[in-house]
Amino acid sequence: MKEQIKFYGMESFPLELHKVRIVQKLHLVPIERRLAALYEGGFNTFQLKTGDVFLDMLTDSGTNAMSDNQLAAMMQADDAYAGSQSFNRLQQAVKEVLGKKFLLPVHQGRAAENVIAHTFMKKGQVAITNYHFTTFLAHVLDKGGRIEELLCPDALELHSSNPFKGNMDIAKLEASIQRNGPENIAFIRMEASTNLIGGQPFSIANLMDVRRVADRYGILLIMDASLLGENAFLVKQREKEWQENTMADIIKMMTNLTDLVYFSARKLSSSRGGGICTNRKDLYGKMEALIPLFEGFLTYGGMSVREIEAMAVGMYETLDETMISQSPSFIKFLVEELDALGIPMVTPPGVLGAHINAKDFCPHIPQSEYPAGALAAALFLISGIRGMERGTISSVRDEQGVEILADAELLRLAVPRRVFTLSQIKYVIDRLHWLFDNREMIGGLTFTYEPPVLRFFMGKLAPVSDWPEKMMAKFRKDFGHSL
Ligand code: F0G
Repeated sequence: MKEQIKFYGMESFPLELHKVRIVQKLHLVPIERRLAALYEGGFNTFQLKTGDVFLDMLTDSGTNAMSDNQLAAMMQADDAYAGSQSFNRLQQAVKEVLGKKFLLPVHQGRAAENVIAHTFMKKGQVAITNYHFTTFLAHVLDKGGRIEELLCPDALELHSSNPFKGNMDIAKLEASIQRNGPENIAFIRMEASTNLIGGQPFSIANLMDVRRVADRYGILLIMDASLLGENAFLVKQREKEWQENTMADIIKMMTNLTDLVYFSARKLSSSRGGGICTNRKDLYGKMEALIPLFEGFLTYGGMSVREIEAMAVGMYETLDETMISQSPSFIKFLVEELDALGIPMVTPPGVLGAHINAKDFCPHIPQSEYPAGALAAALFLISGIRGMERGTISSVRDEQGVEILADAELLRLAVPRRVFTLSQIKYVIDRLHWLFDNREMIGGLTFTYEPPVLRFFMGKLAPVSDWPEKMMAKFRKDFGHSL
């Protein structure tokens, strides 16, 4: 039975099933200060300081609210360099929740990607994936490999009703293996709730098909489980065969279908850290020696033991539907309200955050002037809301230095787990409504400093005209002295 809350009135909204017991003051500074902060941070939201930020929707990574039980567990951490009991508890949680008995701890998700690429990727080989994630791609390129992305045909249609846009195209998978030869394929990687296309899930039926192909050619199947809890929740909501199953059944089914699972615990388990787990001793053996080399001893992997305790509890809490449903339900509300205002949203609503199609929001800004980055800057200016550009700024240049224009220009507004209230979400809707009505005022951006790797983190940009000043003047005209 699908649990849901029905309301007497007409309005339907997500209801928080937790109470707030620790609070943190936020800063809603005047627009003049926000404009100065944008210049100081090179119009890159990664470079803003939280003292200037009102609602931090940059990411759901390491920014989730912990439960009372997680905080309590942190107090009983076993501070040992080697053989810590905290690690035993995590290992047990991973075994029970993810169904994998061997666990290698790493300091965060990208460290797992480094170890996996280091171990399984040979120069010139291909990693087949439903879609890349920035750090995954960087590690593959770093090891001299390349990727092929084999999403289902309509996955890049931003406004869609396909419930599983993260599915892999099985015909393309077969064709790619035939073309490359199985021996040249390092592994197949399925990213649960494909981040860069809007947190879109894949179905269990699709994962079963991928497994069958992987078995036929003897290719390793890896899952990025950073957003596994939410993918499993959407499987329960959207895949008919699984509606009567528990979160535990669905998660186990997904992990059982894969040889190797890795995750960023900054998302999965609402703590900070990461892990790689498997039931295959041979795979574990190949990676084991790299943990002390890159991360730390095998029972902490660069993580604080306190975080390890919180991670163990958070892993079990992933099975609690009232906990895991909070962020996807708020995202659904946000996306549907914005969609109703005519704002071009990525649909169906995914996980991690709401995603705005910046190309359609600002059709007058050419992709070479970074519409998603410009929209992120404009939204911060008029609201103090910090989102993240997921478009061409997050992309790379090719070997000739030519910009690779991203498939989609998205502004991501992350909804970290159990952090925001519904009135804060309504503020987001209100300010985006104003921005949409004034969208022709948003102008483009240009790089003033461009780092060679992962440029979106540290890069600095400038507006191509005085559009931010003009927008600030319009804000003052419409809102008077309002913050
Ligand atoms: N895989 C996925 C699907 C991710 O979303 C992330 C991080 C990583 C791997 C890397 O993990 O940050 O712990 O090293 N995503 C963050 C985000 C950064 O904001 O979406 P990490």
